Parts: sequence; structure tokens; C-alpha cells
Amino acid sequence: MEILHVSAECYPVAKAGGLGDVVGALPKYQNQLGHIAKVVMPMYRTKFLGANSFDVVHKGGFHMGSAGFINYTIIKEKTNVLGFDLYLVDIYGLLDREGIYGYGDDVERFVAFQISVVDWLSKWQHQPDVVHVHDYHTALIPFMMKHCYDYQQLDHIKTVLTIHNGQYQGWIGWDKANFIPAWDSWKGGLLEWENTINPLACGVKCADKVTTVSNSYLDELKYMSNGLEALFEYEKGKCVGILNGIDDAVWDPATDTYLDINFSLEDADEGKFANKKILCDQFGLDITKPLIIFIGRLVHEKAADLLPAVIGDSIYHMEGRMNFLILGSGESWVEEQLAGMTHTLTGYYNSRIGYNEKLSHQMYAGADFLLMPSRVEPCGLNQMYAMRYGTVPIVRNTGGLRDTVIDYGEPGGYGIKFNNATVGDITYSVYRALELYKDPKKMDAVRATIMQLDNSWEKSAGTYIELYKQL
Ligand code: ADP
Ligand code: GLC
Repeated sequence: MEILHVSAECYPVAKAGGLGDVVGALPKYQNQLGHIAKVVMPMYRTKFLGANSFDVVHKGGFHMGSAGFINYTIIKEKTNVLGFDLYLVDIYGLLDREGIYGYGDDVERFVAFQISVVDWLSKWQHQPDVVHVHDYHTALIPFMMKHCYDYQQLDHIKTVLTIHNGQYQGWIGWDKANFIPAWDSWKGGLLEWENTINPLACGVKCADKVTTVSNSYLDELKYMSNGLEALFEYEKGKCVGILNGIDDAVWDPATDTYLDINFSLEDADEGKFANKKILCDQFGLDITKPLIIFIGRLVHEKAADLLPAVIGDSIYHMEGRMNFLILGSGESWVEEQLAGMTHTLTGYYNSRIGYNEKLSHQMYAGADFLLMPSRVEPCGLNQMYAMRYGTVPIVRNTGGLRDTVIDYGEPGGYGIKFNNATVGDITYSVYRALELYKDPKKMDAVRATIMQLDNSWEKSAGTYIELYKQL
């Protein structure tokens, strides 16, 4: 079977979060199962571009309403360095930037990207069996393939939409409707949700199958999906939850090239201690105390706004018996608070504001606990990486966190779970972490369990193939 993944991110080409990790891994595992999976994404100006070589495979152009005529070029990475065919779409003036998102003209950028993909596909002699799109940036593609006059010849190709994050829907005002290629006017309603063009809703309506990245998140979407609750209830027949996995080629403490000291289950105690020492030396922390980390986007969904109070209260009420280290970027007021606290809590707390792939790996390796108090967490990869590296997750009981972590108080359990994203509940979980840390035998047993959990991609990659086959 041949699958074309269309995405705004793909590690290591460009990554802002878990979407990049998934699209950088899933196709590789689908290929290993004997299928042909490819990826097409925007050609941003990231390091990957300069470090690899490419062939031009197609050039084309189209009118995009008031944005004028758009020329695009498709290039293909030459050596299969990622383990799958990688195609990049270059559009001068729109996609040729360092960043992925956050520009004032993101609507133009991602609509132009999507039209380029369908335009290019319509010219392929040999077409894929499935076009698999990811999140709202690519969710108009099923509509374009079925209902836009120029591309309707693609309507025999099956489409799958994976929702990694239903909070972001890509809303487009009707004043920009002219960007979308001319469509069958009887079908215009498919674009709309609550008086605006809603690409994610449109993708849910038009894709042949819709997946989300955990079963619990699929349930949650029916009562908490930023306005799309009724749609998910109505379309539940075609929606499926498939859990993400870990890319072992990137996330294995025994081979991880970002680590100065590698380790595996057999020498986890010494290995983690050596990595913790590097972190503690670098950040002025005390190696004898449990180290609790947070890595991620500093946004409301991740409950990052609660971190300052949780850290302050925990250090104060538990007499500084633990250390905290934070890595993240996001809302500027949260960034400022977390950066400012390094001066008042020196020796107990430190932070690195920004994005740092190497440091993230070092932190998963050197920490004792990873805190993920997320208000919304469709799947969450951090907790899976942490566990692979012997770091105990402290998570809120939601979405993919609910499906991947069992509280150590339950039979067979190995993590710490709490129900509410409140300072009180989180601080109490920090207390439970200290209690666990005080019991080295239990801590060792939990560590051994989490390092051996099977969160590999093999199973989920196969589940996606089964889903395509149903189509
Ligand atoms: P999300 O996609 O919602 O951000 P996930 O848990 O699925 O959450 O994935 C987050 C990914 O991004 C992980 O690979 C994590 O290590 C990485 N990450 C997040 N913030 C940073 C950061 N500031 N520096 C380095 N890596 C980060
Ligand atoms: C999203 C979600 C996260 C998930 C990731 C990959 O960004 O917030 O929970 O793990 O996508 O699917």
C-alpha cells in the first residue's frame, strides 16, 4: 500500500512539538511493515535543508484568489536519510522562513501549501492509495480532493485525518474564502462551522476516516473540543483512537547521541546518576535531592501557568526537599515568571526558556520525575520518553496520559496520577513523589518497570495499516 503523509512538521526537518516526532517516525515504521509511506511538508529554511541534498521533482502554479498567482516547486531528499521519501514544497515569499508557525499570513501560507500538494498530486502518473493528513494545517485537503473542480479527479484516493490537537482549528474568515480553489457550491457547507471556515471541522466531515492519538482523547472530544463537540458526536462512526509510539532510533538511552553518558536497564542507577550530575552541575542544583522536571510548551493546555505556584508551594511547604528544572517556551508572561524565579529560588530551582533538543534528552535521562499537569493532552510523548529513560511520570489523569500511566498505588502501577489541574492536587503529587523517592527499593522496582514498557511504534503503525485497508 502507498501512503502519502501531509504535515506541517516532521522531525528532524522541522519540529515544534509531538506532531513533528510522530510524522518523523510513523512512515518509517509503516515502511518497515512492507508498505510505501512518504511525507510531504513545507520547505522552511531550517538547518536540515543546508545539510542534505535534493532533486527538483516538479514545478507548478495556481491562482489563489486575491493572493494572486502562486508558483511552487517540489523537491525530494536524495538519499532517503529519514527512512522514507521526503518531499518539500517551496513557495517563495510564503514558506521560505525559519519558523513553522506564528506569522501574520499563516492562513495564506498553509492554504497555499495544501493547494500545492493537491495540484502536484493531480499531476502524478502514479498516485498513492491513501493521503493521510495531520491537524488543521492540512485538513482542507480531503475537501479539495473531493469538491474543488480542479482536483476532483483525486476523489478516488482515500483520505485519513489524524487530530493531534483539536484545540487549534485554523479558523479562516469568509473574506479569505477566495483562496480556496473553486468548489462545487452545493458543498460549501462542508467548509463551515459556526459562521466561519473551520479547516479542522471540514477535515472531520470530509476525510474517509478520522483518528486521534489516544482513546481517552477521542472520548473527551465529544464533550470538550473547543466548539466541535456536536460534530465529534455526529461523526463518531468514522473516528478511531490510535496511541502514538516512541521512535527507538531516536529515543533509546543506550544509543541516544545527545547524551554524554548512555545507559540501559542493567546500569540505570549509575547511568541516571551520572546524567543527573551533569544537569545539577550545570544548573546549580543538589544531586542528593529528587529532581523534578517539566519540558514543554508553556501554554494553558499544558497548565504551565500553575508551575510557578506549584514550585513555590512545594519548596516552601516541603522544606526544599526537592529540586525543579524547567525547559520550555510559550506565553511570555509564564516565561517571565519562570525565568524570574531562578533568582529567588536559587539552589532549588532553575529554568531554561527556549527550545533545546539536546537539553531535553539530557533532562529525560538525568531526572527522577517528570511533571505533566496538562489540562488537555491528546497523547503526550514526554511521559513515554521519560519512562523509557527511567524517569517516573507525575501526570494529570487525562487524554493519552490516562491511557499510558498507571498510578503506583494501583496493582501493577508505576507512575503518579492526579485528577485536577490545581495547585493543591499537583503539590500533593509532588509530596507523593518524595515519599516514593524515600523508598529506594520501590523506586528501583518502578524504574525497572517503566524502562521495560512497550510503547513502540510497531503496534500502532500496524493499526493504521489495518485502518487504511478498511477503506
Ligand atoms: P506537544 O506536541 O503537545 O507539545 P508532546 O508531549 O506530544 O506535546 O511532544 C512534545 C515534544 O516536544 C517532545 O518531543 C518534547 O521533548 C519536545 N519539546 C517540547 N518543548 C521543548 C523544548 N522547549 N525544548 C526541546 N524539546 C521540547
Ligand atoms: C499534539 C498533542 C500531544 C501529542 C502530539 C503528537 O501536539 O498536544 O498530546 O502527543 O500532538 O500526536
